[in-house]
Amino acid sequence: MFYAPSFSRAQGVRRYGALAVTGLALVVACGSREADHAAAASTTTTTSGGGEGGGDTRLVVVHGPPTGNDPMVARENLKFDGYAVAAGTRGGLTLVGTSLGASEASHAGVLPLPLLGDEPALPASSGAVRAIAPYGDGLLVAADEALLFAKDGALFLSGGHEALHPLGLIGLSSRTADEDDDGALEPHLALRTKGGLIELEDGVLRTWSIPGETGAPSAALVQRDRLFVAYDARLHEIDRATLQTHRVGGELGRITAMACSTLACPPGSVIAIGTDAGLLERGADGRYALYTLAAEGETPLAVRALALDEVSQRLYALAEAGSTAVLVRVLTGARPTLVASIDATQAASTLAVDKTGDVWAFYGGVATRFATGSPLSFASDIAPVFQTYCASCHEKGTNGAPAKDFTDYETAVALGAKVLERLKDGSMPPPGSPPMPKEQLALIAEWLVKMAP
Ligand code: HEC
Repeated sequence: MFYAPSFSRAQGVRRYGALAVTGLALVVACGSREADHAAAASTTTTTSGGGEGGGDTRLVVVHGPPTGNDPMVARENLKFDGYAVAAGTRGGLTLVGTSLGASEASHAGVLPLPLLGDEPALPASSGAVRAIAPYGDGLLVAADEALLFAKDGALFLSGGHEALHPLGLIGLSSRTADEDDDGALEPHLALRTKGGLIELEDGVLRTWSIPGETGAPSAALVQRDRLFVAYDARLHEIDRATLQTHRVGGELGRITAMACSTLACPPGSVIAIGTDAGLLERGADGRYALYTLAAEGETPLAVRALALDEVSQRLYALAEAGSTAVLVRVLTGARPTLVASIDATQAASTLAVDKTGDVWAFYGGVATRFATGSPLSFASDIAPVFQTYCASCHEKGTNGAPAKDFTDYETAVALGAKVLERLKDGSMPPPGSPPMPKEQLALIAEWLVKMAP
């Protein structure tokens, strides 16, 4: 418990769901002349050209549909009032924000949350919800009438309402990590506002200004060492220490979603970016890959929503083009795998993953719950990882490696313990070959517990 049980629920929430905002806006302009130069130098078109004048080629375009066959995940449709705008999960609470307010999504249905409290600033209703993000042990809900905090099946006025609501919030993103090394997790918040990207840390608001950009960013994500800010198709990466901005080159398409591969989002985490041109991924090595999710020459699938399972740290994306829509699982360093094909009669706008691991896609007035919370599957989750990182040597026994087909279920089960040991001690893949990200290692370790085919 974070608060004395004798407190009323609203008081308790107000106490620890409160956002202390003390400092005033401090404008950090970034991007010096040199930084603009750096930006120009790192702007490239696509892979093949190799960049102009030896410029750093940072964007690789990978064509091809999502891997794997449609696993026919079970699903259930639930109706709700209003149009879905945003969604999020914290602990047992999965919330969808709509044009009418905020509703809880659970196996029982999608039901409006009551607004509790007696503050004079508390409106009679929330109005349309613009954004939702995990914060502490609840969810911050930016609505037209107020900044709210959702927890335990109700909405309360957020302690940050007075300071943050007037900023005109249109987007929220957060990460939860112990970055000050005091042994406690603290939430970090980034706000997209009509006036630009504002960061809230240690009670101080910081407005980031990006050279050449004004108004509201279309997406943003903030890490301890870096910021990623998109204005439509223009993506800027900012190094916090040097304040240098890099514009990521290539035909990115309009960017409307960003997510980290982990809740804590430490430096080096893989960042997924949803664009009209596909799924853009920033790897741990700082390179960008754009997965078009369509064959070369075909219209790319637009990725409009991303959601992280905060328990298993699986990252999902919703992609669509015309009447085709798919739910895919983001695999770092490899093409995403197909989780489900969706009959796209209405454009899905947002996604969330509930505490059981089920993915929810929210459309205008309809929520679809996908039963993805089942154990990891060897065929769709694990075999592609072995294929990417191990097959180059082990499939045919090249480079002195014993010929072992790790993409074969029986082989993987038989050698499972040995494989995990070699992955953990870092001896496989051997130094010099592409390293396997720790998220993939975690997947394999998770799969080995149940070893589902
Ligand atoms: C660059 C080539 C190369 C790649 C890539 C590679 N390996 Fe290996 N692997 C070897 C060689 C060479 C050996 C034999 C020497 C040794 O055991 O270190 C080996 C041995 C092993 C063994 C011991 C086999 C046994 O029966 O004793 C395991 C397990 C293994 N690799 C797993 C993997 C896994 C899992 C991956 C992918 C994540 C992988 N390797 C990627 C070259 C490779």
